[in-house]
Amino acid sequence: MRHAIRDLLVVGAGGFAREAVEAVRAVNQQRPTWHLRGLLDDDPARYGAVVGGVPVIGPLELVHDHPAALVVLTTGRPDNYVSRPLIAARLGLPDARYATIVHPTATVGSTCTVGVGSVLLAHADLTADVVVGRHVALMPQVVLPHDARVDDFATLASGVRVGGACHVSEGAYIGAGACLRENVTVGPRALVGMASVVTRDVPGERVWLGSPASDAGAAPLPELMRESA
Ligand SMILES: CC(C)(COP(=O)(O)OP(=O)(O)OC[C@H]1O[C@@H](n2cnc3c(N)ncnc32)[C@H](O)[C@@H]1OP(=O)(O)O)[C@@H](O)C(=O)NCCC(=O)NCCS
Repeated sequence: MRHAIRDLLVVGAGGFAREAVEAVRAVNQQRPTWHLRGLLDDDPARYGAVVGGVPVIGPLELVHDHPAALVVLTTGRPDNYVSRPLIAARLGLPDARYATIVHPTATVGSTCTVGVGSVLLAHADLTADVVVGRHVALMPQVVLPHDARVDDFATLASGVRVGGACHVSEGAYIGAGACLRENVTVGPRALVGMASVVTRDVPGERVWLGSPASDAGAAPLPELMRESA
């Protein structure tokens, strides 16, 4: 059977977008899979710019003008880590419009699942019975061992290490090199600082810092993202 090459639109034009583009190129090197149509950004000043070798072709709403193209959301800085759920809500696309990008050096065990729209960068490893939700970002060298669960829109920065059966809840951000003890749950939209060590369940929408991680205050979330909003 002939292998179809699909058009791909990348939402975002920052660091994560360039990393996702590199993953797409690596996938294409293995097997031509994606035709990268361009990056989408809300800032008109960027239209026509070339970022990571890919043109910024217009605003996010262009996804509606290219109904055959698949889309991937590649925003999520630590100071605005809930941008992907907000963009997904704004665009209102069905799951079938989203691409899942897995760098060829990432490993996904046969008993693991990865949801639509998620991006796994180089050397992310999912061992056994790992469940990764939709629009999750796994940066390089994230290791998810047996029974780990990462819910929709969560972001795990590079080198995050979690113990077995850990649970990262929806929209949480785990900073680079952070560690989670086995069976621990990080609550929704929590922010765990880089290199922090989470040794017990921690509630959502708070910042957790240090070793052992302790409560450093309310997470920097837009008001409409808060549970109480
Ligand atoms: C947690 C974080 C978001 C805080 O950033 P911030 O709000 O700008 O906070 P500040 O840098 O002003 O630091 C506030 C305090 O927390 C401390 N702190 C910040 N990050 C910390 C961390 N990861 N562990 C322990 N303490 C930390 C600071 O030393 C400072 O302490 P002080 O008040 O006693 O001086 C940030 O430090 C972080 O970890 N970001 C994630 C970075 C990352 O993983 N990037 C990878 C993808 S690009």
